[in-house]
Amino acid sequence: MSMTINVNGIDHTVNATPDTPLLWVIRDHIELTGTKFGCGQALCGACTVQMEGQAIRSCVTPVSAVQGKKITTIEGIQSDAAKAVKKAWEEEQVVQCGYCQSGQIVAAITLLENNTNPNDDDIDTAMSDNICRCNTYVRIRSAIKSAVQDLTNQKRSG
Ligand code: FES
Ligand code: FES
Repeated sequence: MSMTINVNGIDHTVNATPDTPLLWVIRDHIELTGTKFGCGQALCGACTVQMEGQAIRSCVTPVSAVQGKKITTIEGIQSDAAKAVKKAWEEEQVVQCGYCQSGQIVAAITLLENNTNPNDDDIDTAMSDNICRCNTYVRIRSAIKSAVQDLTNQKRSG
């Protein structure tokens, strides 16, 4: 079946059954491989993308459910929050094996796009479903706090 979905601002017409997980359409049809497969059961967060600005698990989201919606992947996020998070991730050297990190970064960006001053509980709640087998959680939290500070400083100076 032919469907059109909008990913990172571009309409893509893909041939897939309606129940095909969005993750496989993103990776195999559109060939954006930044979004990862971890568990396939909405348990790890490796496959996190945004739909209309909110974080979703693309491994359990049928492609038919996203027609007419704006999907954003790690490759396409360009907000101020995204820039601050990516910079902080580099500066804090968060990544270890990297496998979970696209999902972690998309989750962190989504948090900061919706809450410019999250407290520890907000951060824990937003990130709790993103699993890291390399245990980078301390660095993730530190990077999110750096990104918040960066965004605050930008606001003050701008
Ligand atoms: S691959 Fe989607 S939550 Fe694990
Ligand atoms: S950095 Fe290796 S799983 Fe998170």
